[in-house]
Amino acid sequence: MIVLGVETSCDETSVAIVKDGKEILSNVVSSQIDVHKEYGGVVPEIASRCHTEVVTCVFEKALKDANLKPKDIDLVAVTEGPGLIGALLIGISAATAFAYANNIPIIGVNHLAGHIYANNLENELKFPCLALVVSGGHTELVLMEKHNSYKQLGQTLDDAVGESYDKVGRVIGVPYPGGPVIDKLAHQGKDIYNFPRVYLDKESFDFSFSGLKSAIINFVHNNEQRGVEVNKEDVCASFQEAVTDVLVYKTHMAAKKYNVKQIIIAGGVAANKGLREKLTKEITEFEICMPSIKYCTDNAAMIASLGYFCSLDGYENRKFSIDGIPYLDF
Ligand code: KG4
Ligand code: ZN
Repeated sequence: MIVLGVETSCDETSVAIVKDGKEILSNVVSSQIDVHKEYGGVVPEIASRCHTEVVTCVFEKALKDANLKPKDIDLVAVTEGPGLIGALLIGISAATAFAYANNIPIIGVNHLAGHIYANNLENELKFPCLALVVSGGHTELVLMEKHNSYKQLGQTLDDAVGESYDKVGRVIGVPYPGGPVIDKLAHQGKDIYNFPRVYLDKESFDFSFSGLKSAIINFVHNNEQRGVEVNKEDVCASFQEAVTDVLVYKTHMAAKKYNVKQIIIAGGVAANKGLREKLTKEITEFEICMPSIKYCTDNAAMIASLGYFCSLDGYENRKFSIDGIPYLDF
């Protein structure tokens, strides 16, 4: 089965064609990061406009790269949420028009589940499976007993991890998105500041990152006011250690409690080298599966893969009925 996936939930316009949920025939990603950099974060209205400008070309390139015609596509899968409403609607409208014009069935899929299915592009999901979902908007531990089944074990009570990375990045003066730059700087510094590790109740699978973020912002500002120069690399290393200690601890605890066959990570922050290293170093008794870096951040290959697995359960051709859902959980 050949599925065409469409992803426009934030600042990447992406169309991909994937065979049987696994074989990537094409995956075109047009990023707007350079546009939003100027503003220090994603500006929703600008994101919508940028998607509108490129979406048709991205469709054309995805078909061309796969050397396929629209008639070869069996199903269209489009992200319906969560995400920025204007941005989502551009992808949904384009996908709906494409599906309608070519008489192809269309379904709406969940962006977060898509991040999980990025793991399935290169590896096989094994159940029960524990997913640590860490993106710009979400931080969750999710248990999957089978395909298309999600049980949320815990989530952030305030900021998402990616959001904290981006906010700390702004305070220490690195360009948006802060995550990848902090990750790089962290590897050049040392964890000398011992910022708080917020475990909440140690039995709980919920997270909280706003306290850590505020601690760092206050630390940087206090030093600035006193004219003391802080070492950026050491701040990054100390922040990253505090974040990853908690993520790895809770993931390990949940894996043991539910005796899972596999641990996977998903979402933009899954690209974090510190997190990847610590997971593999500290959790040795479980199989750990991670997507390649290029499939961690937003892309449509993961959406097409998810679309295939959704279709195995049967689907309703949604034709014109797909709406954008900004706040959608599993
Ligand atoms: O999943 P994603 O592409 O978009 C959302 O669905 O939110 O995630 C984007 C987030 C941003 O906050 C970005 O800073 C973060 O992922 N990110 C990273 C790294 N690469 C991207 N955070 C930490 N370390 C990285 N290497
Ligand atoms: Zn995402």
